[in-house]
Amino acid sequence: MNSHNTDTLDPVALLNCAVLAPSSHNTQPWLFRVSEDGRTIELLADVQRALPINDPDNRELHISCGCALFNLRVAAADTGFERVCTLLPDSDRPELLARVQIGTGTLEPKLAGLGEAAIHRRTWRNRFKSEPLPDALQLQLCDAAEAEGGRLQLLPEPELRSQVVELVKQGDGLQWQDEAWREELAHWMHPGRSGDGLTVPRLVAPLVRGVVRRFDMGRSVGSQDSLLVEESPLLALLTSPGDTPQDWLKTGQALQRLLLVAQQQGVQASYLNQPIQLAQLRPVLEKALAAQGHAQILLRLGYPDDRLPASPRRPVDDVIVDQP
Ligand SMILES: Cc1cc2nc3c(=O)[nH]c(=O)nc-3n(C[C@H](O)[C@H](O)[C@H](O)COP(=O)(O)O)c2cc1C
Repeated sequence: MNSHNTDTLDPVALLNCAVLAPSSHNTQPWLFRVSEDGRTIELLADVQRALPINDPDNRELHISCGCALFNLRVAAADTGFERVCTLLPDSDRPELLARVQIGTGTLEPKLAGLGEAAIHRRTWRNRFKSEPLPDALQLQLCDAAEAEGGRLQLLPEPELRSQVVELVKQGDGLQWQDEAWREELAHWMHPGRSGDGLTVPRLVAPLVRGVVRRFDMGRSVGSQDSLLVEESPLLALLTSPGDTPQDWLKTGQALQRLLLVAQQQGVQASYLNQPIQLAQLRPVLEKALAAQGHAQILLRLGYPDDRLPASPRRPVDDVIVDQP
């Protein structure tokens, strides 16, 4: 049952919202294929944009694409179109991550209204104000994750915070020691005009990239991160019941849903994923934090004291691929 005439459907408007999603190193590892009638949108993994050192199993790549998929659903709901979303619809084509059919299925009224938050969401890597998050909002964030099949475990206990400090410090140390990891990070540090990557002002970009490539800054990054963890208003771990591409896509949708609910209340987040990205630390973190599933994303959340400009995005034309 359609609630709208799909003649007015504008798939490009939906994709404009999808591409605002967060992604590791701002790689934006997604492509979209739109059917001729504009009613079917396929989401594909852009494996050229994978991070083989930071993310050898493409776990975060799938999570990032799950975030983009959630934004697409939000945009569809915002315009009043019903949709059906199938994850990994073709087992022979693992790069085909999802098929979204607009104009069929169930309208998701709870998502309508989150589109505005998708525009204003940012990753906030600085200190947050000391103001705590209200209990009701903390519960809302847990509900948001659960609605997408994830679980957000809040970590208020000081002992858990100390464990996180220790593990993040170890993670920073191990990653920065690794020349290949530093090279991969430097590769994604560009001036903003490039449309992707981690923005570095044009004039100093070569210098910053050179420093990242050559120097192990694990110790100073680790102590900076420790302070941020210690004073963080809220620490939380997002887990999933399984650890397959399907779970990762669901995790991405859970992550983006909770980030947008947070943004609606003026709360932003940043990531402390080092101990999850490293295979040797992930089980240690899961044990230390008594994870109720597979650890996927570790977050710091709070109120920022400023508004950041949006990070760059590839134009939608660049992420649309033709029909085969
Ligand atoms: C799966 C995933 C993992 C991420 N991991 C990190 C991280 O470890 N450290 C970090 O500073 N940012 C991390 N980010 C945030 C991205 O760098 C950020 O989304 C990207 O630079 C775009 O900026 P924006 O979120 O402000 O739009 C991650 C984002 C996603 C979706």
